[in-house]
Amino acid sequence: MGATYQVVPGGALTGRIRVPGDKSISHRSIMLGAIAEGTTHVSGFLEGADTLATLDIFRALGVSIDGPQRGEVAVRGAGMHGLRAPRARLDCGNSGTSMRLLCGLLVGQSFDCELTGDDSLRRRPMQRVMDPLAQMGAVITATDDGRPPLKVHGVSDKLHGIDYRLLIASAQVKSALLLAGLYAGGRTCVTELAPTRDHTERMLQAFGCPVERIDNTVCVDGGAKLIATDIEVPADISSAAFFMVGAAIAPGSDVVLEHVGVNPTRTGVIDILRRMGADLTLLNERIAGGEPVADIRVRHSELHGIEIPPECVPLAIDEFPALFIAAANAFGTTVLSGAAELRVKESDRIQTMAEGLRALGVDATPTADGMRIAGGDYRGGVIDSHGDHRVAMAFAIAGLRAASAVTINDCANVATSFPGFPQLAAAAGLKVNVA
Ligand code: S3P
Repeated sequence: MGATYQVVPGGALTGRIRVPGDKSISHRSIMLGAIAEGTTHVSGFLEGADTLATLDIFRALGVSIDGPQRGEVAVRGAGMHGLRAPRARLDCGNSGTSMRLLCGLLVGQSFDCELTGDDSLRRRPMQRVMDPLAQMGAVITATDDGRPPLKVHGVSDKLHGIDYRLLIASAQVKSALLLAGLYAGGRTCVTELAPTRDHTERMLQAFGCPVERIDNTVCVDGGAKLIATDIEVPADISSAAFFMVGAAIAPGSDVVLEHVGVNPTRTGVIDILRRMGADLTLLNERIAGGEPVADIRVRHSELHGIEIPPECVPLAIDEFPALFIAAANAFGTTVLSGAAELRVKESDRIQTMAEGLRALGVDATPTADGMRIAGGDYRGGVIDSHGDHRVAMAFAIAGLRAASAVTINDCANVATSFPGFPQLAAAAGLKVNVA
C-alpha cells in the first residue's frame, strides 16, 4: 500500500520550482549509453524507481555505471555487442518503458533473458511490441496472453529490417523497433499514425547514428555504431504538469517551473491548458542537450471546459490525470475522446480517475475512450490511487480546491517518476502531509 497523502484545502503555489529529470530521456540515456563506445556522462538523470530499474538492468547486463549521484551518471558503454547474459530475471518494476524498449534491444543480442515486473506491469499488454518484432525475426514468448513475464531470445544475426505502420500511437513501440533495427540487416522504417515523443530519434542522432525522417516515417539502418556523448536531461514536463494545473486552479498562485523539456511532441498539456484559459508563459526558450527547454510561468486564472482536440491526445498522453483535475475546476464541461490508451497505463486511468473524481462529488462520466467532466465545486474524501503515481499526484493537486481534506491512499509509486513530490509541493505551498 505504501504512503498516504493528506491534503488540506486552500493554499496557493508560488516560487521557482525545478521538478526532477525527464523519465523518458533518462531511460534512453542509459540504454543508448550502454551500447555506445566510450563513456556517456548524463546530468539531470531522474533518480526514480523506474529509471533506476533500467540502470540496474544494464548493470546486470554487464555494463559498468557510476552513480547516480545528484543526477550525475557515467555509463561506460559496452559497444553494440558488448552486453553479457544476465544471471537472473531482469526486473522492470513498474516501468512499461523499460520493458518495451528492452524487448527491442535484447532481441539483437546473442543470449536469452527473462523480463518481469510488478503486479501493474504484469497486467500490461506486450503483444504490441512482440508482433512487429516477430516480423523482424525476433522470438519473444509471453507466459500469459501477451503479458509479462517475457522470455526474449537473442537472435542477433537473424533479425531483418521491416516497414511497419504503427497500429496505435506509441513511442514505446516505435522505439523498440528502432532499437531492434540497429541490430537488423537492412533498413527498419516505422510509420506513425500521429506524432509521438521523438526522444529516441533525437538521442540516436546525438550518439552519431543517422535517423532518417520523411513525413511521419522514421528509419534506421542496421549495423550502426553509437559514439558516447554527454546528455543533459531537462526537467520532466509530465511532472511539471501537476504544478501547472495546481497553479492554474489555486487563486493567488504564480510559479515558475524551471528548465522544463518543451519538445513539441510533449507539449499537449500546455496547448490544452491554454485552450482552457490558463495563463502560461514560456520564458527563456533554449536548446539544451538536443532538446528544447524553457522556464514556464503559470498564474492562476479562471478555466473553462473544452472539447479536447484529438490531435492533442498523444502529445499529452501522460498528463490526463492532471488535466482531469483542471477540468473539474473549470466552468462548463470538458470532453475527452480518442484516448482509449489511458486504459492500459499504470492503471486504467479512465476508471481510476472517474472513480476518484466521483468520490469527491465531481460529475465525471467515463466513456470507452475518454471522459466527460462537468466542472464545479467538490468536497473532500478518500481516494484510492490504485498504485498509480500520476493518479496519486493528480488528486493531491485537486486538494487545493476541495471543500475539505483529501486523503490519497497507496502513494508509494509516486517515487517511480517523482521522488520528493510531497516535499517539493509543500515547499511551493500545497498543504500536504505524508503518513
Ligand atoms: C513513453 C511513451 C508513452 C508514455 C510513457 C513513456 C516513452 O507510452 O505513456 O509514460 O518513454 O516512450 P506509449 O508508448 O505506450 O504511448
